[in-house]
Amino acid sequence: MPDRFYVTTPIYYVNDAPHIGHAYPTVIADALARWHRLLGDDTYFLTGTDEHGLKVAQSAEEAGITPQEQADRNSARFRDTWDSLGIAYDDFIRTTEPRHHDAVQALLQRIKDSGDIELDTYEGPYCVSCEAYYQDSELIEGAFCPIHTGKPVTTLKEENYFFRLSRYEQRLIDWIEHNPGVITPEGKRNEVLGFLRQGLDDVSITRTSLTWGVPVPWAQGHVFYVWYDALINYATAIGFGTDDERFATWWPHVHHVIGKEIIRFHCVYWPAMLMAAGIDPPHRIHVHGWLLLGGEKLSKTVHGPARLTDIAPSRLVDDFGVDGVRYHLLRDTPFGPDGDFSHERVVERYNSDLANNFGNLVSRVATVVGKQCGGTGPAPRADSPLAAVAAEVVAATAQGWADVAPSVALDATWRLIRETNAHLEDNEPWKMEPGPEVDAVMGDALEAVRIVAILASPAIPAAAREAWTRIGLPGAPEHQRVPDAVAWGSYPGGLAVSKAGPIFPRIKP
Ligand code: MSP
Repeated sequence: MPDRFYVTTPIYYVNDAPHIGHAYPTVIADALARWHRLLGDDTYFLTGTDEHGLKVAQSAEEAGITPQEQADRNSARFRDTWDSLGIAYDDFIRTTEPRHHDAVQALLQRIKDSGDIELDTYEGPYCVSCEAYYQDSELIEGAFCPIHTGKPVTTLKEENYFFRLSRYEQRLIDWIEHNPGVITPEGKRNEVLGFLRQGLDDVSITRTSLTWGVPVPWAQGHVFYVWYDALINYATAIGFGTDDERFATWWPHVHHVIGKEIIRFHCVYWPAMLMAAGIDPPHRIHVHGWLLLGGEKLSKTVHGPARLTDIAPSRLVDDFGVDGVRYHLLRDTPFGPDGDFSHERVVERYNSDLANNFGNLVSRVATVVGKQCGGTGPAPRADSPLAAVAAEVVAATAQGWADVAPSVALDATWRLIRETNAHLEDNEPWKMEPGPEVDAVMGDALEAVRIVAILASPAIPAAAREAWTRIGLPGAPEHQRVPDAVAWGSYPGGLAVSKAGPIFPRIKP
């Protein structure tokens, strides 16, 4: 039985166009899915768009179109952007789809039937951008949203249906304490435990102030609050409410990739809802930091784009190629803390890791094989000095991906590139006469390129495929199976190695 790996991104609000901050979790989830496909795991990768709620309704009104038109337009922009970034999702869910309405109504009806949803009144400070109530103590200067700096909150009073979240405090604490790796990194797990230990209030889960949402089946005029509708997307996509058998095969083997500001929804409200519906909570929740521009999520800088949200991923793809952008997002900001994004850093990483290391290795190997080996790639030596390095690199790369640490995994893979380049510089095969000596050095280098192409394929799928083809291998690196295919010695030799232009042409800083 293959292992199952179900990975999700948050679903993106359609009030605006996709930006580089949205690309960050999406590329990470895509690379994780690609890694697990290499492992031969039964893999399912879900992304999509969050289309209901006040934020979307208001942005549609400002644009003079209906919320559905707004959702159609921007959801398509997300799909186009993911296509341009090589995102190979298995499903793209939209919360306005009938399958999702069915799942939301079925799941919340179950909680209502169990007695954990009741009518009550609530009044409190509310941030429309977050679509969330806050406690007075959480507000900045008593009036502003803690997430959206400078945005005043409004006071909302509603008679709504409430989810009795307070009943789940201890069960949530027990769940996290009994499953040490359930929320990663460790610091985020502690943050959630701290929040739970302060005690939980019940939460309002329906609205009568708007109609743009999933109708509450037992109360006319109420729609579900957008967050309770949105979280359920993870269940909808694998058949909740429509195909119980399918749901049971995938749930709870899920890995949610989320940003740090939506941790409460995913690590408190969502598992509690699932518990209330008699369903297991999620298997893993991986929490990352923000990409910042000049130190802020939305910042004003003198040069370049005024805000991070102005950076369209497809524009960056025009400048750096799909793999240039993907590699940067995966390698430059370690998973967990915030990271600064800048044009200079993208250029730097691109030139050093992709043009000088990876690209240069592939070009060099093709050039020397062309001149010294008549264009035919020789086979590697079983006792190559690179064999032991490759074995260590494979283990470290696998550990990095298993830990959801793409930057660590890629740094490990790049060690094999660096050591192969050093191996060439030490031996100087370009100075050798054709013969067994040069064949030995080049066979080893070709084998290293083959292994690197497989290991790097989750991050840079197009370039990995190109390198694979240039060294004469049939098929594609993403169709290989780890660990068997990355064991030293599989490059067969006798294949035609082709020279072509640089895979990653250097970019002028
Ligand atoms: N619709 C909700 C999620 C519902 S999931 C059931 C939402 N949408 S969002 O479009 O505002 O954000 C989606 C994700 O993008 C969040 O995880 C957020 O952290 C991430 N990012 C948005 N800007 C970001 C950066 N600048 N950097 C990194 N990720 C950030 O929240």
